[in-house]
Amino acid sequence: MPIDVEPEIEAIVASIKASKKYRDTYEGTIRELARAAASRHKTRKKIEQAVRERLHHIMAPYVGDPDYDAGEAALKAAFQSGSPLAVRETCVHVLSAHVSTRERLPILDRFYGEIFRVTGKPGAILDVACALNPLTFPWMGLPATVQYHAYDIHERRVHFINTYFSLQGLSPLAKVQDVALHFPQETADVALFLKELPRFEQNYGRLGLALLEALRVRYLVVSFPTVSFHGGRSLADHYRRFFAGLIAGTGWPVVELEFESELVFCADKADSPQRRLFDGKRTGLKETVLGSAPAPPVRREAHRPERAGAGKCPSAARSTAARQVG
Ligand SMILES: C[S@@+](CC[C@H](N)C(=O)[O-])C[C@H]1O[C@@H](n2cnc3c(N)ncnc32)[C@H](O)[C@@H]1O
Repeated sequence: MPIDVEPEIEAIVASIKASKKYRDTYEGTIRELARAAASRHKTRKKIEQAVRERLHHIMAPYVGDPDYDAGEAALKAAFQSGSPLAVRETCVHVLSAHVSTRERLPILDRFYGEIFRVTGKPGAILDVACALNPLTFPWMGLPATVQYHAYDIHERRVHFINTYFSLQGLSPLAKVQDVALHFPQETADVALFLKELPRFEQNYGRLGLALLEALRVRYLVVSFPTVSFHGGRSLADHYRRFFAGLIAGTGWPVVELEFESELVFCADKADSPQRRLFDGKRTGLKETVLGSAPAPPVRREAHRPERAGAGKCPSAARSTAARQVG
């Protein structure tokens, strides 16, 4: 049976959308995968099987989901109570349902402070392939006037995030958008692309650099887990090489921030290698002026938890001074 006809594709999309596992997945993504699979397989059964296999890697249902109805009810109650602590506790509960944000919880108090020290506090953010990360907003130290654009292909998740945004006084700017099919067009100061780039490269035929180049932002904030999902193997050096290789040739100056569970790269898309890495006055760090280099220069900082009695200022407790490598 030739499966290059749209009605067959639509039947496959409908069948997958009707399944419990993928009912929340954006149908544009399923359709695109079905069209791609139809060029490789002849029977409807094989095509549908191929699409489900791809979706398993893309949606990664094994990383976890909260109960969205219960989460919305809990958020509404927390906001009604008027207690910022109750709101944070509810967000923590929701964030702990997904492995990416659960791993971020222990570093959340320092995470955005360190990132925005490099990028400056953004007035507009893109959170690309966001999952539940927008619920870390209370730790960002940003006003509700910030334009927070969030993108994901999980429809229930996006609805949930917009419910949270509205309760938080933010504009409900979360969207169901397949960022591999349609790169975000909104402009912002900072794009977060957290713990998704390796999977994105694998799932969408090495589209990662094209996406990063297309994002209309000053700073890209791209992160990677420092330990593997299945075990304690350190991944930091592997992802350092991976990211350096991916953006080699762009000339983007990069500041690296190493937290215990997450390796973060802040790439400045506006700067050429000849320009200042970042403003020493604003950050309080020594200013570095870069010469031209074949690969993007990377400036590293390690962020360890404060030891008891190490003093209140996180920067005083850091084990490593900023340094430039590469
Ligand atoms: C590992 S989670 C990302 C975690 C999140 N960025 C964080 O670090 O907390 C991957 C997310 O990317 C979303 N995703 C996968 N492919 C996508 C695409 N093409 N466009 C938009 N979102 C996508 C998935 O639905 C899922 O919510």
